[in-house]
Amino acid sequence: MTGTVFDGLRAEISNIRIARRAGRIAALSRGVIEVSGLPQGIALADRVEICGRDGTLGGEVLGLSRDRATVLPDGGTDGLGIGDSVLVSGRSDIAPDDSWIGRVVDPFGQPLDGRPLFRGPLARALRGAAPAAAGRRGLGGRLETGLRVFNTLLPLVRGQRIGLFAGSGVGKSSLLAKFARGVAADVVVIALIGERGRELRAFTDHVLGAEGMARSVVVAATSDQAPLIRRRCAWTAMAVAEHFRDQGRHVLFLADSVTRFAEAHREIALAAGETASLRGYPPSVSHAIMSLAERAGPGPEGAGDITAVFSVLVPGSDMEEPVADILRGTLDGHVVLDRKIAERGRYPAIDLLRSVSRSLPDAASPEENALIARARQLLGAWDRAEMMIQAGLYAAGSDPLVDAAIRIWPDLDAFLSEDEPGDTRASFGQLAQVLGTR
Ligand SMILES: Nc1ncnc2c1ncn2[C@@H]1O[C@H](COP(=O)(O)OP(=O)(O)OP(=O)(O)O)[C@@H](O)[C@H]1O
Ligand SMILES: [Mg+2]
Repeated sequence: MTGTVFDGLRAEISNIRIARRAGRIAALSRGVIEVSGLPQGIALADRVEICGRDGTLGGEVLGLSRDRATVLPDGGTDGLGIGDSVLVSGRSDIAPDDSWIGRVVDPFGQPLDGRPLFRGPLARALRGAAPAAAGRRGLGGRLETGLRVFNTLLPLVRGQRIGLFAGSGVGKSSLLAKFARGVAADVVVIALIGERGRELRAFTDHVLGAEGMARSVVVAATSDQAPLIRRRCAWTAMAVAEHFRDQGRHVLFLADSVTRFAEAHREIALAAGETASLRGYPPSVSHAIMSLAERAGPGPEGAGDITAVFSVLVPGSDMEEPVADILRGTLDGHVVLDRKIAERGRYPAIDLLRSVSRSLPDAASPEENALIARARQLLGAWDRAEMMIQAGLYAAGSDPLVDAAIRIWPDLDAFLSEDEPGDTRASFGQLAQVLGTR
């Protein structure tokens, strides 16, 4: 215990900077600041402090030329003037600590819950590299999820990365909170990126609750914050997940949402002079999303794993939308939530026919795979015939598969809802019963 306190103090002291190099504002236009007189040694992505009339404002170096640095501030430029001083704080890493479990922090590692928070003894790079591909383990064993549908038809395995795609208000955040409470993991790291400010307290206090918070670190940046801070939120949260992974722990990483991360990146890249291409997104957005997703997944030998769920907002269920499209290609599965299913009150509102887990068939036994295949077959038959059935145009007996689908449909639909969660064995037992194979 004493060791921990001293380690924390040492880390705090090492972070205090006594003298900082300063430059001056030379020009201000279109939300970015040109700084002159900065000394040698300043690097891209260094943090700065801009000392204006109304106080200091953070910022980050986006571009460098021989005698000038282009800085994107963390807020509006009102009140800043030519000649105001700009202090260089240098690279800003993140130093997560085990004591962060149960806490809510901002993307700079500062507490958001009003209690003091220690930095950990080791600083980590915000944009750390993914483990080398050749040294990475494969996907691990099946996880208990606390949700019947993920215990059976869409299994989640250790180290798997999946996307959660849905329009607004269809239940992404609620489902992520269910994962935070129910998925077997040592630590849960949740990145709340650019969501509404009022949602943060509601999420931690009610949706996640004390039970979910007890093993979670929440990193949050709200929608009113500057794009640099929103983008940083995802990186900080991933660095926190890597901290625990490197101790050999199994981390569940939940990001809500990657769309807001990509939008923040777009704002920054456009300010840095990149041109928009992919439906308004700059070309660098692909790399930003893929390198974030790649940091999650199975760890190298001797480390733990990061199982990850990334939520994506798909307006009008447009899965070809750039962020959804980029992410889908890099992940090991995707779950699509459907507004029509949510509207009739079944949660989680998963459209099973459009959702896949690439951990199958390996993650299940031959008998379990047979049950999964049968359920999908009947769901497919129901889906094709639903309009005719609802309109009373289907004549019983014309297709044995549709007849079977009609018989089991109410029970299968109820099975897919979240009531009465059990373990995987119990969930498969219930599925067998619903399908009439037991
Ligand atoms: N499991 C559930 N049981 C009952 N209602 C639910 C459930 N999940 C979601 N809802 C309903 O759907 C609403 C929206 O859910 P949620 O905030 O999780 O959606 P979202 O996709 O994250 O929305 P946004 O796009 O605005 O972030 C909730 O306020 C609630 O009314
Ligand atoms: Mg949400």
